[in-house]
Amino acid sequence: MTKKKEVLRPSLWTPRPVDETIAVYADWAENYDAEVSARGYRTPDRLAAALADHAALDQVVLDFGCGTGIGGAALRRAGFETIDGTDVTAEMLEKAASRGIYRKTWHSAPDDMGFAAGTYPIIAAVGVISLGAAPAGVLAPLVAQLAAGGLLGLSFNDPTLADPSYADALQAEVTQGHAEVIFREHGPHLDDVDMGADVIILRRL
Ligand SMILES: C[S@@+](CC[C@H](N)C(=O)[O-])C[C@H]1O[C@@H](n2cnc3c(N)ncnc32)[C@H](O)[C@@H]1O
Repeated sequence: MTKKKEVLRPSLWTPRPVDETIAVYADWAENYDAEVSARGYRTPDRLAAALADHAALDQVVLDFGCGTGIGGAALRRAGFETIDGTDVTAEMLEKAASRGIYRKTWHSAPDDMGFAAGTYPIIAAVGVISLGAAPAGVLAPLVAQLAAGGLLGLSFNDPTLADPSYADALQAEVTQGHAEVIFREHGPHLDDVDMGADVIILRRL
């Protein structure tokens, strides 16, 4: 029998309708942590460390697209004390909530993030605005949700970097004066397939 890992590997990083994305992650929730840990998932710690270098650790952080909570755990390791989490996939979110590291978690909808604009001075989106997860169109509304002067830490893995829609969405935020890039670094993402990712920090203007 073909293992789930072998099924997902070639097909994960492609655009798909949001209901299919949610179905993929609902199906993956049970094995996600074990699988990505075994593969050497490096972006969560890279992104959390970059945010910690640019922000006060006592500020509240939203882990947007928190999945099972791997990003939240990395933020906690980096020293952030108060972390909330949200995701569109209930099965992933349940795992995150059970980690006991989030102050609160809630189930968001693709067209309703479920929090008031300006609530969070820091938002982390680890592997979320990405091929195989949220479309590039999520970037602008997410930046708009940040508090003035707030930081958004996000990652674009190599397949996402090769899709112009994500680069264009990022460039549009800068060109339109909504945000500036204060940090950007390419490094390891998934060791087993030797995939990299850019970790990017935007400051809302
Ligand atoms: C690759 S996983 C990353 C999960 C977690 N951040 C991590 O690093 O392990 C992508 C996550 O994005 C979530 N997602 C996809 N589209 C989303 C959206 N529009 N809003 C919030 N979360 C979304 C999925 O449900 C999934 O949990």
